[in-house]
Amino acid sequence: PTSDARAGDESETTVIAHRGASAYAPENTLASIDKAAQLGFTWVENDVQRTKDGELVVIHDDSLQRTTNVEQVFPGRAPWKVKDFTAAEIARLDAGSWYSPAYAGTRVPTLKDYMCHIEHNHEKLLLEIKNPELYPGLAQQILKQLGSEGWLDQRHLKRLIVQSFSADSIRTVHELRPAITTAYLGTPTAAQLHQFARFTDLINPSYGSLSKGYVSAVHSFEGPHDKPLRVFAWTVNDAATARRVAGYGVDGMITNKPDVVKAALGSN
Ligand code: G3P
Ligand code: CA
Repeated sequence: PTSDARAGDESETTVIAHRGASAYAPENTLASIDKAAQLGFTWVENDVQRTKDGELVVIHDDSLQRTTNVEQVFPGRAPWKVKDFTAAEIARLDAGSWYSPAYAGTRVPTLKDYMCHIEHNHEKLLLEIKNPELYPGLAQQILKQLGSEGWLDQRHLKRLIVQSFSADSIRTVHELRPAITTAYLGTPTAAQLHQFARFTDLINPSYGSLSKGYVSAVHSFEGPHDKPLRVFAWTVNDAATARRVAGYGVDGMITNKPDVVKAALGSN
């Protein structure tokens, strides 16, 4: 990459560990980012939501049910929404046993702890603003926390991409902090791309909705930092799909099995 390269602007296809290396460790935990680092991958993806008392936490679903033991610990509190539990309550939950007994006692990380661990591991982060419709001001709060922890200084900006399925959230991020590299999750039409290219640097679609023609159409737009829009496809978990999606000309792949994707790309 040149000195003015943006986050994720790499000469080879960028491989991003989805929710950490989530095929091999419980998703969105510190263990899953450690696993990505052990496998030699620097980019990890996560999902950020908010507790009842306003703490930012890293978890994918809007409910705690699938990836923690919340049903046992708080049996009367169905449907166990993240937004209805305090940070102290969530800190009591086991977020590893559902995946494997070997991970018993693993916690749902706060964003603060997660970022410290990313820093410690020298990793790079594709941060997803998750379910912002449930959490008014979520994008602004995430920016505030990133700023207060030094993640918006020049050195860290090259290690951070902020993405969302919500175009409004991405527009907000770009308007408030134009230096951040941003990504829109989805497959916008050409008309939408004209609009979105004002505030997003990447388009990150589900690989099933992709074609070579779509990827080159996205590449023909220039983003807010005067560079062609890039494309990171998700969630590519097997070698045959990785080779096919590479043939579409994507710039990156988001995967639960970064080792499998990397090996497939190497033999492409
Ligand atoms: O990074 C892309 C991917 O995470 C989007 O889908 O549901 O896994 O958050 P989801
Ligand atoms: Ca995600």
